[in-house]
Amino acid sequence: MLTIGVLASGRGSNFQSIIDEAEAGRLKASIKLLVVDKPDAYAVERAKKHSIEHLFINPKEFPSKDDYFRKIAAELKARDIELVALAGFMRIVRKPLVDAFPNRIMNIHPALLPSFPGLHGQKQAADYGVRISGCTVHFVDEGMDTGPVIIQAAVPVRPDDTEDTLSARILKLEHKIYPEAIKLYAEGRLRVEGRIVKIAGCELKDEYIVNPPIG
Ligand code: GRF
Repeated sequence: MLTIGVLASGRGSNFQSIIDEAEAGRLKASIKLLVVDKPDAYAVERAKKHSIEHLFINPKEFPSKDDYFRKIAAELKARDIELVALAGFMRIVRKPLVDAFPNRIMNIHPALLPSFPGLHGQKQAADYGVRISGCTVHFVDEGMDTGPVIIQAAVPVRPDDTEDTLSARILKLEHKIYPEAIKLYAEGRLRVEGRIVKIAGCELKDEYIVNPPIG
């Protein structure tokens, strides 16, 4: 069974969506560890409720960012984690972690990458005036939201949308496509070729756009 480690900084609703799919038996995975960079991250409460080990690793205790991510990588490796899922983790992952888990770190971003990377993807989209936005699950490299795209889902942006209303619409899809992408990984159906992710036997679903549609 796939072993997963999750990194989060806050609310953890995406973390919850992964827990729920695993507990329902639809995702054949075991979430073994939650790492947070903030002691009061609500994600910790979720971990406690579901008896998932959690660690607060304080970035202030490390001389450099690389040292911080080396420590996180060591904790994940010590637990034989195979896939790392960033779930609202508000830091750019550094080389020691990326190198320890090549194409084995995923992230969910609340915009259709490469549009609107970085913070507040939903607000950036609303402010720009795009008609369609959405969310992206991608593999993580050392850039900011630049790694190979696994799944994207699109939603309309309405003229009266605020950051909050658009975020809520996007979040519903985040909770679908993130566990879905992890499921594809768990089933061994993802193959990364350069920056293209091939999905074996992938069906195009009406409710979101899968990129690429056919593996
Ligand atoms: C989500 O919108 C996610 O796309 C972004 O940060 C937010 C985290 O929300 N990376 P949650 O902590 O998973 O509820």
